Order: sequence, then C-alpha cells, then structure tokens
Amino acid sequence: MPLEIPPVLQASPVDPSLTGNVAAGEARKVAHQAWADAPPVALYELTAGPVTHSFHPDLPDQEVWGFNGSTPGPTIHARYGEAVLVRYRNALPRGARGPGSPEISIHLHNFHSPSESDGHPDDFYPSMHLPGTFRVCHYPMRYAGYRTNPGPDGIGDDREALGTMWYHDHRHHYTASNVYKGLAGFFLAFDKYDSGDRRTEASLNLPSGPFDVPLMVQDKQFDSSGYVVFDAMDPDGFVGDKFMVNGKIQPYFHVQPRKYRFRILDGSTARVYDLQIRHNNQAQKFWYIANDGNLLPSRLEMSSVLLAPAERADIVVDFSAYPPGTELFLTNRLQMLDGRKPEKDFLRTPIQLLKFIVGAGPVADDSQVPANLRALPLSDAEIEQARRDAVRREARLGRSNGGWTINDRIYTSKPRFSSKQGQWEVWSVRNDSGGWVHPVHIHLEEGRLLSRNGRPPPPHERGRKNVFYANPNERLEILIRFRDFTGHYVTHCHNTLHEDHGMMENFEVKP
Ligand code: C2O
Ligand code: CU
Repeated sequence: MPLEIPPVLQASPVDPSLTGNVAAGEARKVAHQAWADAPPVALYELTAGPVTHSFHPDLPDQEVWGFNGSTPGPTIHARYGEAVLVRYRNALPRGARGPGSPEISIHLHNFHSPSESDGHPDDFYPSMHLPGTFRVCHYPMRYAGYRTNPGPDGIGDDREALGTMWYHDHRHHYTASNVYKGLAGFFLAFDKYDSGDRRTEASLNLPSGPFDVPLMVQDKQFDSSGYVVFDAMDPDGFVGDKFMVNGKIQPYFHVQPRKYRFRILDGSTARVYDLQIRHNNQAQKFWYIANDGNLLPSRLEMSSVLLAPAERADIVVDFSAYPPGTELFLTNRLQMLDGRKPEKDFLRTPIQLLKFIVGAGPVADDSQVPANLRALPLSDAEIEQARRDAVRREARLGRSNGGWTINDRIYTSKPRFSSKQGQWEVWSVRNDSGGWVHPVHIHLEEGRLLSRNGRPPPPHERGRKNVFYANPNERLEILIRFRDFTGHYVTHCHNTLHEDHGMMENFEVKP
C-alpha cells in the first residue's frame, strides 16, 4: 500500500525578536564578518537525533536520523533581508549501530555563508553527551555579492537571489553515511518584497503556499528483513533499488486540478535521475523555471529533467486539464551515467517514484508561469569580459589507488589554492576518471557553466549554477568569483562517497 506524501513540515522561528541572553551569548560565538551587516532577526533550532521512521507500511518502522524528529528535517522558510541564525543541536547517539558518525557539521548547500557558518567538513562537533554540543550558524540573507554590489537597499542585487536550497551534514569521511541516514532538509529563501515594482519572484505570481512543494528524491537499499542498509566502504558510490520521495517509498499525492510548483532535489548518494511526469505512459510537458535554486531568465517547456546528486530543478506542472481521478507519475528513466549497466530488465523501464491523483475541480488558480522570469545578472558581453579578465584554474577529476582525486591528490585540510576576493576565475574541470559522473559542487558562490566539451550548455544549465556534473571524459568550463566572504571553503564531488573518499579540495578566499 502506498503512502500519502507527508506534509512538508515547516520550521518555526524560536525567538523572532531575538532579544535576551540567548541571542547575545550566541552572537559572541559567531562573531564573524557578516554579523554587523546583517544582525539576525530569526532563530531556528534544528536538533539532529534518532528518529523512528516508516519508509513504507510493508517495512518495519526503524531508527534513522533526522532533525526535530523527522527526516527529511523541517523546511526553513527564510526571507532576504532578514538574517537567520540556526542553532544546530547534536543529539545523535554515540556508538550507534551501522554506518554514520555522531559528529556533525551541517552545511547549508548553495548558500553564501560566512566561513565560520558554512559547515566545513573539518568543523564537526560531537553529540550532546559532551560539552560543545551545538553550533550556531549565521545566514545573512543577502543576495550574492552584496558587499561589492550592495544595490539600493544594501542587500545586493535581487537577480542573484537563490530559492531552493537544502541543509545536510558534511562531516568529513561520513557525509555519505550521515546524509543517507537522514540528515538533510530543505531551506527555501524568498524575496524581500511580497510585491511591488521590482521584478521579484513574488510579483511573478508563480504557484505558492500549499502549491509550492519541495520533493527530495532518494534511493536506498533494504536487507531481507526490511531494514535500510548502506555500504560506506564502496568508494564508487551506492545506488539503491527502492526510491523515495520525502522519505517515503513510492508515495502518492492528492493534487488539485491546478498548477503546482515542485522543487525537486536529487538527495541521493550517487544516482543521476532522468525525471519525467508521465500519464498513460506518455511523458507530459511542464515548465522548467529554476535550476539549482536560481530562476532562469525564461521558462522552458520540457518533458524530462536530468538531475545529478545535489542538483535541484523547480518545475511547474499544470494538472487542470486532467479529469478527476487521473493518475500521473513522477518517474525515473534509469541512467547509465554512473558507469553501471542495469542488471535487471525491469530497471530499463521508467520507475514510478511518486503518484499524483488529480482531485475534482474546478478550483480557482490565479497563479501564472510568465514567459520571462528573472534576468540573469551578467549580459553575454559582461561574461565575455569576465572570461578575458579571469585567472584560470584546473580541476582534473581522477582516480588513484582506489581513492578519488582532484589534480592527483586526495583531500587534506590544507588549502590547495587561494582565490582573491572579487576576482573572476575560469575553472576548467576535466573528468578523466573513467566511467563515473562527478557532480562538482563549489561552496560560497554560484558560477556560470560556459561550456561542455567546448559547446554551449543546454538552456536550463545556462543560469547561475552550483552543481556542475561532469560526464565521463567531459570537459567543463565554469566562470565564478567569490565576493561575499573570505576564509576557508571546499569544492568537491557531490557523489558523497567520492567526496568521503577524497574527491574534495580546500581553498581559501583572501581579501
Ligand atoms: Cu551539498 Cu559541500 O555540499
Ligand atoms: Cu565523483
């Protein structure tokens, strides 16, 4: 029996006014670069701990890990201009069975966080049975580049807004196990203005509120007694044969006959998805509106989405044309990009991840999907200029002695290079490692994918991106600059087992 999709839990701020000693005390702990620009106005508390979870009614309830009693953890809704503090408490059991580490370092993926709040892999902290049991992270909620290009209201250029982000554990050597065990959740950022004369996201009138639904897609394996299993020692990766959305195996979701925005995240360890919305075995059309949390300049009509680990796609599906009771499916066509062949025939047909059941109408729906969404911050001419001014960097993705390497070396805590704040860089990424895809993630900033194997990338990859997957033997060129903060950050493969097995580099941004 399939499960209803669980409601997306929303986190509520602990102390919206942030007055009192707690805030003052924590302010001192996170005394860093951004504090003065962006004093926090909301405090959230996320406690990582064991959760008794049901993946499916046919499987035993079992202990996994999550935040505030659920996995995925609660969704945080933040607003630009209103800085956020998150107190990440660690209540994980020490000496737990199976893979995973009770030490954690929670990273807000894609966000422009000060180095101290970034959830660096070496910055982990133990569970609450020991002193030092929480970490406060400060998210200034400014648009990218607000320090160099503050804009009229001091919070940056709203063309550089991010929407769909996620938080997850990043403890070095254990990121794969800890995320697989459930330490992940959504963090959505909304525009400062609800409406008005500026071209903000709210003024676009996209489907919102209950019709704006984050979907975390993951794959897992279960043993013969129905308990989830993982192999953290396989450096290649790990693919499951059961698929889940927001922590439930093949759930169903009652939708109204109207438009919905789905913010789809590949939260898997290694699997690349080729997603479709299918009805009567036909792929349906939808609007692709945002990639990696960034609105595209214009909507794209598409019928499939390729997603690598940590990539996000926001799509709008219109259910209004389907009669009540119609069933549609979010499906995955199995990808061979991880270098493996599907052993079983059934894996070659589209796998149903989530069933939509259309309810009775008509319902009022004044939401829209405007043809033009949000202009990108750089014109083509500016990109050309930036490319000419850029320093060049190489990242050769390879493999040696069973470990995964960048420029022939596995991860160490020492910074491998330093970037000058505000300086354009062109990264040339080459996947020379054999048959695996490497989704390359760079902390702190978005970049622009200039080319794949010398050719322009497809339209949905031409916006501001944060995860750039490199297919076997592929060469990517990425234009990027680090503006907001200085300090230590990492870049790594987001196949989290590759990352844990060395495919990560430390770098330093210097003023
Ligand atoms: Cu989603 Cu460095 O991580
Ligand atoms: Cu990789």
